[in-house]
Amino acid sequence: MKLLDHYREWRKMAEKILKEEVENLKPLKFKAIAFTGMGGSGIVGDYVKSFLQDVSRTPIIVVKDLYLPTWIGKDWLVVAVSYSGNTSETLSAVKEALSKEAYVAAVSSGGKLLELMDKERLPYVKVGGGYAPRSALPLLLYASLKLLDELGLSIPMNQVQESLDVLGGVKEAEDEGKSIAEALKGYTPIIVSDVRYEALAWRFKSELNENAKIVAKCETVPESMHNDVEGYEEASSKFKALLLSAHDDTVYTKVLEKFIEELLKEKGFKPYRLELKGKGRLAKLMHGAHVAGFTSLYLAEKRKVEPVKVELIARYRKFLEEALP
Ligand code: PA5
Repeated sequence: MKLLDHYREWRKMAEKILKEEVENLKPLKFKAIAFTGMGGSGIVGDYVKSFLQDVSRTPIIVVKDLYLPTWIGKDWLVVAVSYSGNTSETLSAVKEALSKEAYVAAVSSGGKLLELMDKERLPYVKVGGGYAPRSALPLLLYASLKLLDELGLSIPMNQVQESLDVLGGVKEAEDEGKSIAEALKGYTPIIVSDVRYEALAWRFKSELNENAKIVAKCETVPESMHNDVEGYEEASSKFKALLLSAHDDTVYTKVLEKFIEELLKEKGFKPYRLELKGKGRLAKLMHGAHVAGFTSLYLAEKRKVEPVKVELIARYRKFLEEALP
């Protein structure tokens, strides 16, 4: 199946994984959660953190590293997300979590990670194979939400349902992706969001890197208004700005649409505004990710590159495997 078909299937993937069982489920009591994972799997932690930070009282951090901060230990739940189950950084963080006696749970399609989870009888959700990690976002994300829900964190299911409904709008997302690809062609994209949607800005950038094989940068308001903004003086001929707007009644949206967009026009950037669909955070995050996926694939087509191949990532992964003791 082509990568494009994977993205067209996102709603089905999400609905299917929400019905899967958690293996080795047992009651756990934890005070905080650390998600660990890299790339297309690491973004899942960012998404969960962004979605739950206004609704859950349990602190969530994201670790995209081989090593964990010293203060993670007993009473922490470390959730490892790795599509392949063979990512060196993630495996290293998991081993460290176990040595620190933290609880460990996982989401993966298999590999060494699930071998370890089976051996240690630790909770996990197994997702289906055959996708690229980034095209499997709904599998990894909704499996993680399911896992947290079963482990006692209460997940707002009405927001989960709304996000599934938004993912049903495949044609609209694909058409929007085509238009954005057309607008970005030949430019280095600057993706601007507000801080609530930082995970999405990063995801958009990463999709353009991995699928369309281009350099892209992202920035978030309000921090970017204290540094990146000064670069707008010089950048207009090489860059194209894409604004990810929650389009709601907040000061963030006011800044994004009424200040930054106007400023970018004044500086000659011809900014493109993507209005995120849905009411809740999760729906907007997923709508943006869906559009990002389609944008990156249509841009790859225009650039005549093969989106599924990630040869330089593979080269780095091999180097790291050999470099590690
Ligand atoms: O999307 C990709 O292919 C990468 O960003 C991978 O997700 C990354 O290399 C980590 O691999 P995995 O998702 O298998 O842990």
